[in-house]
Amino acid sequence: MNNNTDKIIIFDTTLRDGEQSPGATLNIDEKLAIAKQLARLGVDVIEAGFAFASPGDFEAVSKIAQTVGTETGPIICSLARAKHEDIKAAAAAIKDAAKGRIHTFIATSDIHLEYKLKKTRAEVLAIAEEMVAYAKSFTNDVEFSPEDAGRSDPEFMYEVLEKVIAAGATTINIPDTVGYTTPSEFGSIIKGIKENVSNIDRAIISVHGHNDLGLAVANFLEAVKNGARQLECTINGIGERAGNAALEEIVMALHVRRQYFNPFLGRSVDSETSLTNIDTRQIYKTSRLVSNLTGMLVQPNKAIVGANAFAHESGIHQDGVLKNKLTYEIMDAQIIGLNDNQIVLGKHSGRNAFRTRLKELGYEVSEADLNKAFVRFKDVADKKKEITDWDLEALINDEIQQAPDLFKLELVQVSCGDRARPTATVTIRTPDGQELTDAAIGTGPVDAIYKAINRVANVPNQLIEFSVQSVTAGIDAIGEVTIRLSHEGRVYAGHSANTDIIVASAQAYVNALNRLYATMQEQRHYAQLAAQNA
Ligand code: KIV
Ligand code: ZN
Repeated sequence: MNNNTDKIIIFDTTLRDGEQSPGATLNIDEKLAIAKQLARLGVDVIEAGFAFASPGDFEAVSKIAQTVGTETGPIICSLARAKHEDIKAAAAAIKDAAKGRIHTFIATSDIHLEYKLKKTRAEVLAIAEEMVAYAKSFTNDVEFSPEDAGRSDPEFMYEVLEKVIAAGATTINIPDTVGYTTPSEFGSIIKGIKENVSNIDRAIISVHGHNDLGLAVANFLEAVKNGARQLECTINGIGERAGNAALEEIVMALHVRRQYFNPFLGRSVDSETSLTNIDTRQIYKTSRLVSNLTGMLVQPNKAIVGANAFAHESGIHQDGVLKNKLTYEIMDAQIIGLNDNQIVLGKHSGRNAFRTRLKELGYEVSEADLNKAFVRFKDVADKKKEITDWDLEALINDEIQQAPDLFKLELVQVSCGDRARPTATVTIRTPDGQELTDAAIGTGPVDAIYKAINRVANVPNQLIEFSVQSVTAGIDAIGEVTIRLSHEGRVYAGHSANTDIIVASAQAYVNALNRLYATMQEQRHYAQLAAQNA
């Protein structure tokens, strides 16, 4: 193996590290929808989860391996601590992928060794070597990460890397776990590895980084200049704490500035060959999907995919752009698929046209989901003259997101105005099948609805975020409501789209409550099992 591949491998960890963001928990259907879209985006590797973490995580990795891990599809990877049981679970979960990878890790920094692992360097070295060899007994494609590499003693890390490569690791991934390094330091770490690990030519050098100081993407670009050829990133940069390096930023930096980066990959400055396998026109769509399903909103000024990323507000800029786009634009919105929002359907469009357009957009839904989405499409088409691709995506994402259907919103009615006290009536079908109606007064219509739902559902929680965004421009636009609520330190997200934002607000709240209630049920179930086994 040669670590000087002339393309950058994009390793997406949205479904593993990204899903570790507070409240970003996804169900299996949602993970599958994201994995399919990542494959359309053209990522080389999907880290689909941490198979040992829970039966749900195992099933998600396994389903993604079966469905998305085709011969021409991406490599499907599962994370595993350097432990036999983790590696065994990872191997079983990826076994149906045409190309499967096990990614195992153990920390190498003294802080982690002393306080977290309570192990000596010699012990960690032996575990790393043994566990890579164990992973290798299941698959040829083994990745190893020395966790907290950014704060590890380089000499010790070189020793560990040399041993794991000898044991069969084909990718060695250097994580800046706590987002501590600066670009030149991170570049030097990669350079040091190339110069001091004797068998480094047998492995690809990968990097992984968190954004605690806002430096993750800059660190990665410096790593590329020094020999890294795999970049681990997430859509919209979601992930632990301040998140991970954002895929869209890395890919577009490598694309827009390819003349700058070409020589570092041994190409001529003017080479037009793309530096990654990413289909950049899928970027915007992927960003929206991940944001909708995780409930993690994209800040308006976010690079590449933020609502303002291609907007020109000041008169001077607008004037310049009208005269020549190049005055203030370094890339065309088209390149990330931002202007691909076509008006496609209307109220006379039939089921066939609906199904065909969904298929063209990459959604292959079951007959049942199609029927449900079609009913909603007809309803929206009655209210809104023109239905665009983004409207269709909002509707279909909503359908994917419905599970778990524990509480069901049957009716919501509000009265409000400047002379009225906002009052809401709701009817909810509870998980045990009862249909309950109640009413409440609030400071506004949404507050009244949430109070009424709380009276019926009786699931304690604290609302921590509520946001409304419109899918397209225009007074008849579909509104998307995203909410986040917390209970016992955990965050649960809910999302819904409707031309009526009051209905969307109620449904988003019920969706979040369902996630919370499902977790409470799961915890109760495990507590009962533990009590029986005590
Ligand atoms: O941040 C980190 O160190 C990780 C490793 C498991 C690669 O996510
Ligand atoms: Zn990480």
